[in-house]
Amino acid sequence: MQYRNLGKWGVKISTIGLGSYLTIGTHVDDETSAECVKVAFDGGINWIDTANAYGRGSAEEALGRILQDYDRDDYVLATKVWAPMGEGPNDSGLSAKHIFEQCHASLRRLQTDYIDLYQCHRPDPETPLEETIRTMDMLAQQGKILYWGVSEWPSALIQEACDLAEKMNCRPPVSNQPRYSLLWREPEEQVFPTCLHNGLGNVVFSPLAHGVLTAKYEPGQPPPEGTRAADESQNKIMMDLYWTDEILTKARDMAEMAGDLGLTAAQLAMAWCLQHPAVTSVISGVTKVSQLEDNIKAADAEIPPDVLEKLDEMFPGPAQSSAP
Ligand SMILES: NC(=O)c1ccc[n+]([C@@H]2O[C@H](COP(=O)([O-])OP(=O)(O)OC[C@H]3O[C@@H](n4cnc5c(N)ncnc54)[C@H](OP(=O)(O)O)[C@@H]3O)[C@@H](O)[C@H]2O)c1
Repeated sequence: MQYRNLGKWGVKISTIGLGSYLTIGTHVDDETSAECVKVAFDGGINWIDTANAYGRGSAEEALGRILQDYDRDDYVLATKVWAPMGEGPNDSGLSAKHIFEQCHASLRRLQTDYIDLYQCHRPDPETPLEETIRTMDMLAQQGKILYWGVSEWPSALIQEACDLAEKMNCRPPVSNQPRYSLLWREPEEQVFPTCLHNGLGNVVFSPLAHGVLTAKYEPGQPPPEGTRAADESQNKIMMDLYWTDEILTKARDMAEMAGDLGLTAAQLAMAWCLQHPAVTSVISGVTKVSQLEDNIKAADAEIPPDVLEKLDEMFPGPAQSSAP
């Protein structure tokens, strides 16, 4: 396993993190989830990503139970706030009231005294940025969080948050959590340069495009039972973004290239994310222990320059696709 500083900040996290969206505490039972956490820690993963909204609290609750077996000093725990946790007018967003209340609710569910990284899940245009920054700073002063970050914020807002935090003499965001994969390279255009400029690390999500980049789906065929693609309660995003025969065929071609390097498609796809200098870590979501055992090896995979070039041609980035 490799460890990197989170952007310019002191905390070191493994280049693979364990995620919990649609898995721990929701679609994956506690026993398998606990085994995944054990395999993650045994394999050197030292950080876990969750959110208050995953299963409306059930992901944090499951992690809270599982993590009781481990020493709190040994892992970095990241969660999020913003998405609705109820139907009331103050049950979502980034107001002082909602952040403060949800921070305490997350601490209870996770059965811990502090959150290492508290992330704003999305921007909240209805709350002044000053209010969110001041609240995060206050929670850090109270010892309830150590760092705060953002997720899927546009580059201009990330820059504004950094500038404003400095002006207010408050802690700035230390990280961003964007969608990033061979099939989703938009952050390269503006978000990554802004993060590099301001010293934010990027912990990227959906590195396998919800499983499409494992090449387990056959073009022209319905998805196998038991996969995310086959489950209508989980597959909307992947169907909307990635479900075309062209993309499924490209994933198959990429898997062949991976095989030539002695890697699986998942390992190549995740290792590819890690070669961008703005990326600190990729978050791996899994439904089975065997998937994690596969993915974790991406941390040590090396991609030769000629393969990187071929991947660039097959999966063009924003600069390439907008070139005349
Ligand atoms: N900030 C945000 O807004 C946001 C959004 C989404 C996710 N996240 C975070 O990022 C994490 C990862 O996102 P994601 O789950 O979308 O990641 P992903 O890696 O793109 O997809 C994960 C899914 O792919 C399948 N899979 C994974 N490894 C596999 C393997 N080796 N072989 C075959 N299938 C495999 C599994 O689904 P099946 O077995 O069901 O097919 C797994 O649940 C989440 O857990 C969450 O912590 C954050």
